[in-house]
Amino acid sequence: AVTRRVEALLKRMTLDEKIGQLTQLGAGMPGPNKETTDELIRAGKAGSVLWTINSADIERMQRVAMKESRLGIPLLFGFDVIHGYKNVFPVPLGMAASWDPGLVERAQAMAARESWVSGVNWTFSPMVDIARDARWGRIVEGAGEDTFLGIAMARAQVRGFQGPKLGTPERVLTSVKHFAAYGAADGGRDYDSVYVPEVQLRNVYLPPFQAAVDAGAGTVMSAYMTLNDVPASGNAWLLRDVLRQEMGFKGFVISDAWAVHSLKVHGYATDEVDAAARGLSGGVSMDMGSNTYLKHLPGLVKAGKLPIKVVDDMVREVLAVKVQMGLFERPYGDPSRKDAVLNDPAHRAATREAAQKSIVLLRNEGALLPLKANLKRIAVIGPLGDSAEDIKGSWTLEAAGAAVSVLEGIRARWPQATVDFVRGGDMQRAYPLPWDADQGKPAPSLMPAAEMATEQARAVQAAQQAEAVVMVLGERANMSGEAASTSDLRLGGNQQALLEAVVATGKPVVLVLLNGRPLDISWAAEHVPAIVEAWFPGTEGGNAIADVLSGTVNPGGKLPVSWPRSTGHAPVYYNHNRTHADETDPKFTSRYANLTSKPLYPFGFGLSYTSFRYSDMKLDRAAIHPDGRLQVSVTVENTGAVAGDEVVQLYVHQRAGSAARPVRELKGFQRVTLAAGEKRVVSFPVGPDELKFWSPVSRRWAVETGVRDVWVGGDSLAGLRGEFEVKGR
Ligand code: IFM
Repeated sequence: AVTRRVEALLKRMTLDEKIGQLTQLGAGMPGPNKETTDELIRAGKAGSVLWTINSADIERMQRVAMKESRLGIPLLFGFDVIHGYKNVFPVPLGMAASWDPGLVERAQAMAARESWVSGVNWTFSPMVDIARDARWGRIVEGAGEDTFLGIAMARAQVRGFQGPKLGTPERVLTSVKHFAAYGAADGGRDYDSVYVPEVQLRNVYLPPFQAAVDAGAGTVMSAYMTLNDVPASGNAWLLRDVLRQEMGFKGFVISDAWAVHSLKVHGYATDEVDAAARGLSGGVSMDMGSNTYLKHLPGLVKAGKLPIKVVDDMVREVLAVKVQMGLFERPYGDPSRKDAVLNDPAHRAATREAAQKSIVLLRNEGALLPLKANLKRIAVIGPLGDSAEDIKGSWTLEAAGAAVSVLEGIRARWPQATVDFVRGGDMQRAYPLPWDADQGKPAPSLMPAAEMATEQARAVQAAQQAEAVVMVLGERANMSGEAASTSDLRLGGNQQALLEAVVATGKPVVLVLLNGRPLDISWAAEHVPAIVEAWFPGTEGGNAIADVLSGTVNPGGKLPVSWPRSTGHAPVYYNHNRTHADETDPKFTSRYANLTSKPLYPFGFGLSYTSFRYSDMKLDRAAIHPDGRLQVSVTVENTGAVAGDEVVQLYVHQRAGSAARPVRELKGFQRVTLAAGEKRVVSFPVGPDELKFWSPVSRRWAVETGVRDVWVGGDSLAGLRGEFEVKGR
């Protein structure tokens, strides 16, 4: 039925109308001949509109498309609804730290609902790029360094946004991005060249995309950068052979913003006309923003330089998605319910739960945390302490109101205490990007040095008077995210000096980090007794942090990234290969002469206010065939005095084979809640999905025979080990 409808429409379309469907206009930006957005829509020269969340504008444009254009084909309205629409959830890296795909799915379903009623029916999310380099600014937007966790988060997000299938009411179309390997940018510099061999592409970078495709993602966004020297947005091997043929993707491909135009900038296409031809032939169905298709495809087809079939096939893809979404029947959002949905208390409550679950306790010497309920005087110190904006993180939309700051959260949690706040200094902000809510405003400059010194002295004074100090340090929201890579992972501005001065008072200090990437906290890891990684926790961030500091909530998040010790230590990731000497060798292994190769905190790490004991690891078989399965189980016991969450993790290693394999790889995880003293047996299935890899020698996916080591535990250093053999028949 979908095909019939698409074919019937296609037959009636003029060339301009076809190319219109392959065009995403920038809202309010003039067309190639200075036409307004409405004029282009009326002429059938738009399939989608980019970057508006204004419901009235959206409704007007949709009416023009439905009622005033010749064929009445509805528009897609695309925006980056990344971690919430009005109610802001933690940034994706934080959501991944929850290791709770169910929670992630629920959160994105709420974000979808808020978007859909407002008229935004397409989100440029999820970002499923694996990121191993903390210098890369966009590490904040993904699930971190690990493919297996990335797969779980990709699948959960697509299900959350889209529902079980396209057309689920009150859900939105997803765009899985950035295809592919954008996270491997040279030196962690955003947009820079990516050189990733096929073996890594297939084993590390593509599987989360495959999971998203399998979950039904309706669109995929092609990346900006060159992949092995060919721009991803004009790369027929990548977008046609791999994505469509091999991975079975049935939706359509949208370029990243202006990426088709950039084919010329890359030094790939000779000019804009060539860029249009190579973008389309390369497999980009819809051109985001640059109007390159709109300007040049008609001429190319008319001149016989581009077969109409290539255009038609892309139009088919776009129309099929619109039909499957039910967009012809339900083109509009539901403005009458917008108020109720955006202010649904359940959504706000979910942002608090998500923030609580995303928090990772990195250090807690002498059980400083939780802080006592009867504290009389607390000092909150740091440039982010009263932030109700930065705490939301990057990609927050204008619809998002102010969030709860850490200061507010602490004041609400300790109403009887005097809570002093001193900013204590400052850090540089990055320049706002064109789509930021604060666009147009200049990047605020750093506080003058003299003022900074006074602030720092005031902070020390406040600390001296307090029973406990909560320092809130890290990054401004736009210091991580797009175009926000860094060559320096240290705490910016005077934050490090401020931290050292406050710690020198001898008062108990808790460091709360708000950040979108691992930072160099090596000094803090030795000198600050309690460290709480809160990421950018969103609307209810301050309350969730106070919940954890007070012990109302026992933190159970775990790191989705290995934590480098310094900037020069990045990239560091747990699932690397072995070197020629084994890791017990004191010298001749992969390391810097001045530094261990071990991360400051390992992937999967996080503490709790209770403790867990692992015992009785069992494998129900000692050997399986390549298509066989076994079960690994372990008993986990909460040995402390309070209830808590533990993320039980399973890692596997293939000892030998057609190629070297990583020292260990995550292949199972479960977040469980255990009451004090409670014991639970947790089991993991291990079968072909967990054991196969793409061999650069056989050039295919296979489960190879041989011995596997398997570990279970609470982080990637898990020590409880077993082994089994995969035997040929
Ligand atoms: O979705 C984004 C993408 O991640 C980076 N460039 C802009 C796009 C649209 O906002």
